[in-house]
Amino acid sequence: MKAALVSACGEVDEVLNVGTAEAPTRSANAAASGELLVKVHACSISPSEWRLISGDADIIKKPPGFPYIPSLDVSGTVLESDTPEFAVGAEIVATWDNVGGFGGMAEQCIVKASLTAIRPEQISPVDAAALANSAGHALLAVKSQRIAPADRVLVLGAAGGVGSCIVQLLKVPGVGGSDSTHVTATSATKEGKDLLMSLGVDRVIDYSLEKWWETSDLPFDVIVDCAEGTSAWQHACDGALKPGKDGGRFLALVQKEHRIIMKSYWDFTAFLVPVFFRQLWTTFRTSLPKYQTSMTMGDVTGLVLRDVLDLVVDGKLKAIVDPHCPLPFTTEGVRTAFKLLAERKAHGKLVVQID
Ligand SMILES: NC(=O)c1ccc[n+]([C@@H]2O[C@H](COP(=O)([O-])OP(=O)(O)OC[C@H]3O[C@@H](n4cnc5c(N)ncnc54)[C@H](OP(=O)(O)O)[C@@H]3O)[C@@H](O)[C@H]2O)c1
Repeated sequence: MKAALVSACGEVDEVLNVGTAEAPTRSANAAASGELLVKVHACSISPSEWRLISGDADIIKKPPGFPYIPSLDVSGTVLESDTPEFAVGAEIVATWDNVGGFGGMAEQCIVKASLTAIRPEQISPVDAAALANSAGHALLAVKSQRIAPADRVLVLGAAGGVGSCIVQLLKVPGVGGSDSTHVTATSATKEGKDLLMSLGVDRVIDYSLEKWWETSDLPFDVIVDCAEGTSAWQHACDGALKPGKDGGRFLALVQKEHRIIMKSYWDFTAFLVPVFFRQLWTTFRTSLPKYQTSMTMGDVTGLVLRDVLDLVVDGKLKAIVDPHCPLPFTTEGVRTAFKLLAERKAHGKLVVQID
C-alpha cells in the first residue's frame, strides 16, 4: 500500500517520503483488544509527531522503529472488525492515546475501538480527521477549567490546532462559560487574527507588537497557554492572572517551551519537577494563580470524540483546517504539512487527504 515513511530522525526533506509499505494486519487477539482495520480517507498531524521525527524528545517518546508511518488521527471506513459498534463499512474517526499513534498516514491502518467514534455524515472526512485529537484535547481543557459566564479568558497560541477549538468552546454553555464570556487571544499574523475574529473572539492581541501581560484586559480569570510555557506562567504570577483565592487558573498545554529537548534523564527531571511542583505548590499557596498541566488532563477516548462530533453537528464547534489543506498524499504534500508544523505556522489543523 501507499504510505508516508519516516526513515530516520532528522530534517523532513531528508527523512520523510511517500513510498510503499506492507498493508497492516490485525493481531491474533484483535477481537479482545478491539482492533479495527481501516481504509484511511484523511489524516491530520500534531506537534508531538514533529518532535518524534526531530528526535528532540527521544527519552520520552521514541519512534517504533524505522521506517515508520506517522500519526493516527484519521477518518476512514472500517474494513475488518469484531466490534458491533464499528461494523465493516462504518465511517469512523479515530485517534491515539498517550502511548503514541503510528500508522495513520497510509492507505490502511489499525485503530483501537476504544479511541474511535462514528463519523456523522454531515462532517466531511477531512474535517473529521482535523478534529480528532486536537478538538478532543481542547474539549478536555475547557471543561477542566469550569469557566463561568463572567470569566475573562486569555488563550495564547489561539490560532493553532488546539487553540482554534478552545476559543470556540469557551463560549459554549455547558462546556465553557456562555456567549458573554470574554475571550482574548494572541496571534501575530493577519490570517490568524482574521480566523480568531471569525470564531467570535472578543479581542486579538498581536504578540509581536504588544505585551499581553501589560494590556488593559488584566487581570484574567483564566489563561490557557498553547504557545509560551514558563515565561507565560511568570507573567501570570506577576499580576496578569488573578490569584488562586480569587479564582485565577493557568492551564499549561506547553509546560516549559514549545520545543521540548529531552535527550537525557537530567532533561526529563528538569522538565517534570517544576511542572509538578507548580501544580502542587499552587494548590496550597492561594496567593498565586492555580497551575494545572494538560499532562494530567487525561486521554482523548472514543467517548470524548463522540462529544466533539456532537458539538459540531449541533453547530457549536467548527473544524478549522489550515488554508494550505487538505494537502495531497505525495512526498511534497506530506513534507509541506510537517514543515508548517515544525515552523509553527499552522492556522487550524494540518490535514493530508489520503484518498
Ligand atoms: N492534540 C494536540 O495537538 C495537542 C494535545 C495536547 C497538547 N498539545 C500541545 O499544545 C501546543 C499547541 O498545539 P497546536 O497543535 O495548537 O500547535 P500549532 O497548531 O502548531 O500552533 C500554531 C500557533 O502557534 C502560534 N505561535 C507560533 N509561534 C509562537 C510564538 N513564538 N508565540 C506565540 N504563539 C506562537 C502561531 O501563531 P500565529 O497565529 O501568530 O501564527 C500559530 O497560531 C503544542 O505544544 C502541543 O504539543 C497539543
